[in-house]
Formats: sequence, structure tokens, C-alpha cells
Amino acid sequence: MPSIEIRKHVGGCGAEVLGVDLNDLSDADMAALRRAYADNGVIFFRDQALTEDQHIAFARRWGEIDVNRFFPHIDGYPEIAKVSKEREQKTNIGGGWHTDHSYDQVPAMGSILVARVLPSKGGDTLFADMYKAYEALDEETRAAIAGLKAVHSNAHVFGSNAYYDNPERAEFSNDAAVGQAVHPVVITHPLSGRKALYVNPGFTIRFEGQSAEESRPLLHKLFAHAMKPEFHSRFQWRPGSIAFWDNRATWHFAVNDYHGEERLMHRITVAGVALN
Ligand code: SIN
Repeated sequence: MPSIEIRKHVGGCGAEVLGVDLNDLSDADMAALRRAYADNGVIFFRDQALTEDQHIAFARRWGEIDVNRFFPHIDGYPEIAKVSKEREQKTNIGGGWHTDHSYDQVPAMGSILVARVLPSKGGDTLFADMYKAYEALDEETRAAIAGLKAVHSNAHVFGSNAYYDNPERAEFSNDAAVGQAVHPVVITHPLSGRKALYVNPGFTIRFEGQSAEESRPLLHKLFAHAMKPEFHSRFQWRPGSIAFWDNRATWHFAVNDYHGEERLMHRITVAGVALN
């Protein structure tokens, strides 16, 4: 029997996994992790010691690695995106509600974020549960979004004259790689079979067949709904902490409240499947 304990974040998003060493996982441990991941959308680990190679090995137990085409990577490890903020930088990475890779035709399954350098305080990450957000919608809104699709784009984030096209973050800007994709507004989650809301403020720009202006009232109503604190958790990083979130079931938000200090995280994104 696995010795793993899954401690749910009551009322919010995700669960903490105790009693596991990610460098020494039995098949039973992996089965327990897969269940916890599908049920909770994000799983958190403490006191882990993963080298870069072990981070990659853990990610490969879940699937192929989806190399992000915008993020700089760690020297010698193209699979590991560098999520950093230097002492002198003001802009952080991921400092708004979003989910990774929703602009891809086949969005990434999940992201495994490992803490490497942390500020003395602050730099938490917020998570929001899109199963709970969907389940709490009123009947009228559920009917309005049934069968709708939405367009997800990254041009306003990673293109020229876009969010990261500033002297601090110029390395993120890659006009040649920008693009968009269309996905259902409500997906049937490929792991859990549950329905989840699949729009996010970072990348969803409009509904298919509508202009951005026509889409705004309903889209912003969905965003405001999913931003309600009852769907959220706040993860306080410590040395050895890891968060592994499912991009199809959660949003996340990196809090930018530690100016003057460094924060460095290593992120690997695991490939997903087409959504329906
Ligand atoms: C991200 O948005 O992928 C980064 C989250 C974080 O650094 O906390």
C-alpha cells in the first residue's frame, strides 16, 4: 500500500501530497499521484530535492515534455523554462490570472514548478479551481456557454508591442512564434471526465464567431466569477517546494510583491491532448 497522504485544501484549490519522495516513486505511488492530480487540479509537494535531471525524469513519467517557445531556458536544459525575476526587475512572469499554453492547438497538460531561489517573503502563487468555477455557475450562464468555443491568443503577451516586449523582458518576445487556437468554453476534462471552465484572462480574447467587443460582457462575467476567492488557494513557497498544476483544470497567478529580491523557479511543461 502506498504511504502517500493527500491533504485537500479545504474550500479552495488543490491538495498537498505528504509522505512521498519524487526521486523514489513506486508504481503504487504514481497511481496515487495520478488520482490526486486528476481529482484536485494541482498537487503540492514539500521538502523535495530534485536536480535538473531528476526534474526532467519526474516530468517524463507523466508524458512528453512540451518545450515552451517563448521562455528562456536553463543552461544545458532546453526542457526547463527559467521563470525568474532579478533584484532590479519590476515585471514578474505570470503576474496575472492565466493558464499555460491555452493558445496552442493541443494545450499542455500541466506544469511542474520547482522553487530554486526564493525571496525572504512574498512571491506566493495563487491557484483557482476551474471545476468548482464551472459547477458554481448559475443555470442561465451554463446554458449561455453550452456549445460555445473561444479563441485563445498569445500575440498581446509575446508579440511585438505586447506585454513582455519591454527592455526587462525582451527575450520573451517572439513575433515568429505567436499564434492562436480555438477550444470549447466548457471542456470535459481528459483525466477526470468532469466538466471544467476553459477560458482565462491571460489568453482568451473572444468567443468564436463574435468580435472581442461582442464577447466582452459574457467573457468578463466568466472571468469575474472564476476570480471569486472560494475557488482559490494561496501556495507559500519554501525551499524544496514543488507545485504541479493541470492547465486544463486550474488558473494560476504569480504574486509580484517582493521587489528588490530575486526569485528563480524552474518549470517543465508536460504535453497534453486535444480538448473537447
Ligand atoms: C507561471 O506563471 O508559470 C509562473 C508561476 C510562478 O512563478 O509562481
